[in-house]
Amino acid sequence: MIADQRPMMIRLVEKTVHNAAYTTLFFDFAIDYHPGQFIMLWIPGIDEKPYSLSYHSPTRFGITIEAKGIFSRRAVAMAPGDPVGIRGPFGNGFNIVSSPHVAVVAGGCGMAPLAPLVTRLHPDLCFIHGARTKQFILFPDRFDIPRHIATDDGSLGHKGLVTDLLAAEIQRRANRAQPQFDRVYACGPEMMMHAVFTLCDTHGIPCQVSLERYMRCGFGVCGACVCSDQVVCKDGPVFDSNQLKKMPDFNRTALLKSGHAVPLSEYVTWRCQ
Ligand code: FES
Repeated sequence: MIADQRPMMIRLVEKTVHNAAYTTLFFDFAIDYHPGQFIMLWIPGIDEKPYSLSYHSPTRFGITIEAKGIFSRRAVAMAPGDPVGIRGPFGNGFNIVSSPHVAVVAGGCGMAPLAPLVTRLHPDLCFIHGARTKQFILFPDRFDIPRHIATDDGSLGHKGLVTDLLAAEIQRRANRAQPQFDRVYACGPEMMMHAVFTLCDTHGIPCQVSLERYMRCGFGVCGACVCSDQVVCKDGPVFDSNQLKKMPDFNRTALLKSGHAVPLSEYVTWRCQ
């Protein structure tokens, strides 16, 4: 565990550029980590942002970054040896079940926080992954588990939404009188996670999703990350179906750095700057 308030200074040791959008930064540093938790990454002179780990071993961890704003572009431009500060890990992480009847639904860079979870789940899980195009499928060869792929343009797999594939799999299990999913895990754009949550709720399937909000302290003190009555950094970032049902701000509103609540679409645009 790293101290809550003072960043631990470490150095980037390796960088993997996956494609035009995603880069993973690796650090040789031991973190006691549970899948779904996050760290605060501080680039001196720039800013500090939350990231879930995409790789974790006893001696090394990695975070995968989508270059879409000032901070993230600076992060992926770093070179081995460059210093960063980290705090955490923070948050609750996913509730891991041992059943083979689970589904993991990843959208875009939402694959990153789910990757350490996949390694802890039953290998017979149903793995659904969506992206803009074939080129933006993150970690295409990382797991020896078949993936159901959906792309916006149809360049790989199903042309359409991950929820199309999840709905088909739920229906297929029902038609064959197979055990239904015990749990669905999802991470990706909030609209996608809301669609997964709604679909699961319709079929009585519990799900867990990982929410993203603007964060400042990371451990429940400043109030910057509130979503309805939940403090995302401390009560989450992973929330289950029962909690999501009582969170009207889910897929609706989020707080800017100023503390002003705005529609989620406006928040997403701001976060990408
Ligand atoms: S970031 Fe401060 S309360 Fe969550």
